[in-house]
Amino acid sequence: MENSPLDSTSEMDAAYQRTLWLRRELHRHNHLYHVLDNPEISDAEYDRMMQELLSLENTYPQFQSADSPTARVGSSMLDAFESTQHSLPMLSLDNAFSEQDIIEFDSRVKKYLQIQSDIVYTAEPKLDGLAVELVYEEGKLTMASTRGDGLTGEVITANIRTIRSVPLLLHADAAPARLEVRGEVFIEKKGFQRLNHMRMMENQPLFANPRNAAAGSLRQLDASVTASRPLVMNIYGVGYLSEFITHSHWDMLCRLKSMGFKINPLIRPHLNLHQVLDFYRELGENRSQLPYEIDGMVIKVDDLRLQESLGIKSRSPRWAIAWKFPAIQATTRVISIDVQVGRTGVLTPVAILEPVSVGGVTVSRATLHNEEEVERKDIRISDTVFVERAGDVIPKVVKVVTEKRTGNEIPFQMPTTCPACGSLVNRLRLEASDVSEVAVRCVNTRCPAQLKENIRHFASKTAFDIDGLGSRLADQLVESGLLKSYADIFQLTAEQLEQLDRMGKKSAKNLVAAISKCRQIPFNRFLYGLGIRHVGENTADILARKWGNLDTLMNQPVEALADIAGIGPVIAESIYSFFQNSGNRDVVQRMLEDGVQILSMPLSETETGNIFNGKSLVLTGTLHHFTRTQAKKLIESAGGKVSGSISRSTAYLVAGDAPGSKLEAARKLGIDIIDESRLLELIGVSAPDDSSTLQ
Ligand code: IVH
Repeated sequence: MENSPLDSTSEMDAAYQRTLWLRRELHRHNHLYHVLDNPEISDAEYDRMMQELLSLENTYPQFQSADSPTARVGSSMLDAFESTQHSLPMLSLDNAFSEQDIIEFDSRVKKYLQIQSDIVYTAEPKLDGLAVELVYEEGKLTMASTRGDGLTGEVITANIRTIRSVPLLLHADAAPARLEVRGEVFIEKKGFQRLNHMRMMENQPLFANPRNAAAGSLRQLDASVTASRPLVMNIYGVGYLSEFITHSHWDMLCRLKSMGFKINPLIRPHLNLHQVLDFYRELGENRSQLPYEIDGMVIKVDDLRLQESLGIKSRSPRWAIAWKFPAIQATTRVISIDVQVGRTGVLTPVAILEPVSVGGVTVSRATLHNEEEVERKDIRISDTVFVERAGDVIPKVVKVVTEKRTGNEIPFQMPTTCPACGSLVNRLRLEASDVSEVAVRCVNTRCPAQLKENIRHFASKTAFDIDGLGSRLADQLVESGLLKSYADIFQLTAEQLEQLDRMGKKSAKNLVAAISKCRQIPFNRFLYGLGIRHVGENTADILARKWGNLDTLMNQPVEALADIAGIGPVIAESIYSFFQNSGNRDVVQRMLEDGVQILSMPLSETETGNIFNGKSLVLTGTLHHFTRTQAKKLIESAGGKVSGSISRSTAYLVAGDAPGSKLEAARKLGIDIIDESRLLELIGVSAPDDSSTLQ
């Protein structure tokens, strides 16, 4: 029977009421689970309600709303982050490193306020993540931004909406018309381990520490990626408020808690400095048991009127200080120094340590990076050493405890032959813009250690993406002799695979099917998968778009390769010699014979000129070949723009002689730093004659 118009209206009305009810309930359960750690219903029940809401919003798109709990899946996709000016600057904190520093802080506060009596302070764990500001208008989350340089930040609203501990709508009518709150976005230790484990399985690079993981997750233009990361946000303060709330910081946090924000449960007011000092000790002792990383404690004058009288000096308030914990260190003994062989044959020394607990994590090995690092720190076998985990999961050897030397320590010697295949090794000094180091490399292309790494790379997500071919299987396939090169992958049969340890009939069949599925591959991913030295994803992309197909690329003279914007002589030489090598040509040929089909790519519209499309570059120091204006024009001609200050959206810092503070800022943010010649190389032009050098 067809619905009468009246029926369908009332049906829609009922559907709308149901939508509103589901939203309210889902918000409530979300808060119970993610903010209060006190769920009332099972995950399955929550999922069922979410599904129902999703289906209602699908049927009636007019019901959709940015405040809906369904908005947390993060569907929006940006081209770039916009910037926004904070209504009130987001300050940073002065650091203290000792009890004495804190006693002096307390004296300064009293002297400034001309008070002799005890000051009430709140003490808060200093979470190690990123500062974010949230703006609520009429109780609704309308904007979220990063701290940026303190005055201007980047708008990351879509990403923040995906974080479950961030309320999209505030409880209580008590919220002021405009409310700005500030807090820390971070990832808990467990979530971090799970995330890295998943990345390892997918052959993706691991995050060095929870802070980097949180930063990387917030900097996603695709909010659905952020949604998949276990981010948490704690609130620790306010920005602009359109109405007065309270005179006490602690009371403010309590009110924010009742509006639905997550406040760290360890925050407490302390009646005097002694209590603060006791709390620091307590926090330090329990630090490794906490579910998240903290790097210190923040102490704040509780009375907001006193905060106001104390005011700020340049970028930090006089009313607060961060008391840093010492880095987590431990001493242990170097049992031996192993040498690992990487994909490109580089030999890396690794210290094998007597297992020791460093801040709750057992450490038994630490990379020593290269031979020079071992020499510089003079690390010898049997030495007692300090190891440190400064928030990082990858521990490092800080220094040798020389007083513990007995004279029986054995200096390390880099082997002259490859520990995996016995071939002679090559020594090469690598000069990059700011580093110069000696790489010791095994040059045997058939070295099993390199082969294992090569297979891992070949099968990885961004190359051939062979489901099920991870690290362990790559090792097994090489050790059993089934693979002598990655081309052999396409000849593997289920019968051969079944012979391997822990490989059942079903898994063998699945792997063969997965390999078969990868036979059709876009040219850029094919090139990247070959593992040519210096050819990362980006270079592979440039090459694929420039030459379109393998035949043309393989037959290019080295000059033609070096001529492409973004390639340069070193990379060109590496590509050229790869394809000159008859062994490599054979391997490629065999893959094609075994049914690998390379899908050609659309050629780039212009061959040069767009390398910096949409990118922002910053200049610092004295350039030799150009004036600033000329350099700016050049960058603009390649599609980029020049900006005056470093921010997270800076693509490159071009550093000339005597660079300014921008260099340090860029280093801190991990921004690519290039010199003038690299800039020219990227743009694909050569430097003018020295006679025309401009100062
Ligand atoms: S208060 C003026 N409280 O530490 C107040 N900051 O260098 C400024 N942080 O950027 C911040 N936990 O990212 C404050 N409980 C806490 C904090 C905290 C972590 C971070 C924050 C800030 C940095 C200060």
